[in-house]
Amino acid sequence: MKRELLQKFEEIFGDSGAYGVYFAPGRVNLIGEHTDYNGGHVFPCALTIGTYAVARKREDKKLRFYSMNFEQMGIIESSIENLEKKEDNWSNYPKGVIWAMQLKGYDISSGMDILYFGNIPNGSGLSSSASLEVLTGFVLDQLFGLGISFTDLALLGQYAENKFIGVNCGIMDQFAVAMGKKDNAIFLDTADLSYEYAPLDLGGAKIVIMNTNKKRGLGDSKYNERRSECEAALADLQKVVEIKTLGDLSEEQFETYKEAIKDPVHATRAKHAVYENQRTIKAVEALKKNDLTLFGQLMNASHKSTQFDYEVTGIELDTIVEAAWKQEGVIGARMTGAGFGGCAVSIVKGEAVDSFIREVGKEYKDKIGYEASFYVVEVGNGPVIL
Ligand code: GLA
Repeated sequence: MKRELLQKFEEIFGDSGAYGVYFAPGRVNLIGEHTDYNGGHVFPCALTIGTYAVARKREDKKLRFYSMNFEQMGIIESSIENLEKKEDNWSNYPKGVIWAMQLKGYDISSGMDILYFGNIPNGSGLSSSASLEVLTGFVLDQLFGLGISFTDLALLGQYAENKFIGVNCGIMDQFAVAMGKKDNAIFLDTADLSYEYAPLDLGGAKIVIMNTNKKRGLGDSKYNERRSECEAALADLQKVVEIKTLGDLSEEQFETYKEAIKDPVHATRAKHAVYENQRTIKAVEALKKNDLTLFGQLMNASHKSTQFDYEVTGIELDTIVEAAWKQEGVIGARMTGAGFGGCAVSIVKGEAVDSFIREVGKEYKDKIGYEASFYVVEVGNGPVIL
C-alpha cells in the first residue's frame, strides 16, 4: 500500500522534497445514535479501513490536493491565503480543516502537496469525511510541528464540518476517528467529552457491517432538521425542568415532563434522544459484564427507536436489519451513523458469519432489487504515521 501511494504521489506531484505517509481510520457506531448533539453518550469504534495521505510542504503558499478516489477531478489547486469552498468537491473537507486551523491561530506558514486514498466506501455512514478531516489535521500537525492533541484534532474536524461544510454534526465521528484504539470501543459522554475505552471482547463473534448501497449525503438529508427538532423540544422542557441537554434526563424524568413539549413530533424525537442515551449506558454496562445477549437486544431496540421515533432509517435500512434479526447466530443489528441509507451494523457469532451474509444478502436483493455489500471489520487505532 505504502509503495503504491508513494509511486502515485511522485507521478502526480513530482519527486522533489521529503514527504510523509499518514493514515486515519473510519468508524462504526455500535450504539448511541443521534445522541451526540443532545449531550448524550455514544459508543463507536475506529476501523482498520480508513484514509491514507502522502504529504509534503511547499516553498510557496500553494495547496495542491489529489484524491485517488476522484481521479477524474485531477489536481485541485488552492492557496493557504484563499480557501474557498466549491460546490460538491471532496477537497472542501481538507480545505475546511486548514481554514479552521488558521482561524484557531495555528501557524501554517507554507503550502502543501497532499495525495489521498481512502478505502471506506464513501456516503456509507462509516465516516469517510471525518476520517479525511482528522487525517488532514494530523498531517498538518506533523508537517508544521503544531503539537495538537487528538481531542483537539477531533474538534477542529467538527468545526470544519459545521462551519465550512455546513453540516451541523456532533463530535462522535471525529472523536472516534481521532481517539480510536485497537480492539476497544469508546464510551464517550458528549456533554463534557469525558470518555473511557471498553474492550470489545465479543467471544469470537464478529462485527459485520451491512452496506445498503443506498447513498446518503448528510448535507441534503434531514440531519439538520432532526437537530432543530431536538433543540425545540429542549427549549420547551427547559421551561419546566432545569436541564442543559436532553442527555440530562432519565427515562422517568422524560415521562414526567414530556407534556411540556408542544409539538408531538418534537416529543417523539426527544424521546429517542433520551431513551437512546440510557440504552447506550446500559449497553456498555452489559458489555462489561460480558452479557452480549443484552447488548444485542439493546442494539435491536436502538434500531426500532431510530425507525419509529426518530424516523431516520428508510426501507433499505429496515429491510437489511430485519433480515439480519432473522438469522441464526445474530446477536444484534441496527442502523449506524446518520441513517437515511448507508450502513447497518451487526454482531454475529463467528461460525454463522458466512450463512448470515449469504441469507441477508439474498433477502435484501429480493426485496430491494440491488445488492448489499458486507464487511467483516476489525477495530483499529487512531491516526498514525506509516
Ligand atoms: C452523523 C454525525 C454524528 C452523529 C451521527 C448520528 O454520523 O456526523 O455527529 O450525529 O450522524 O448518531
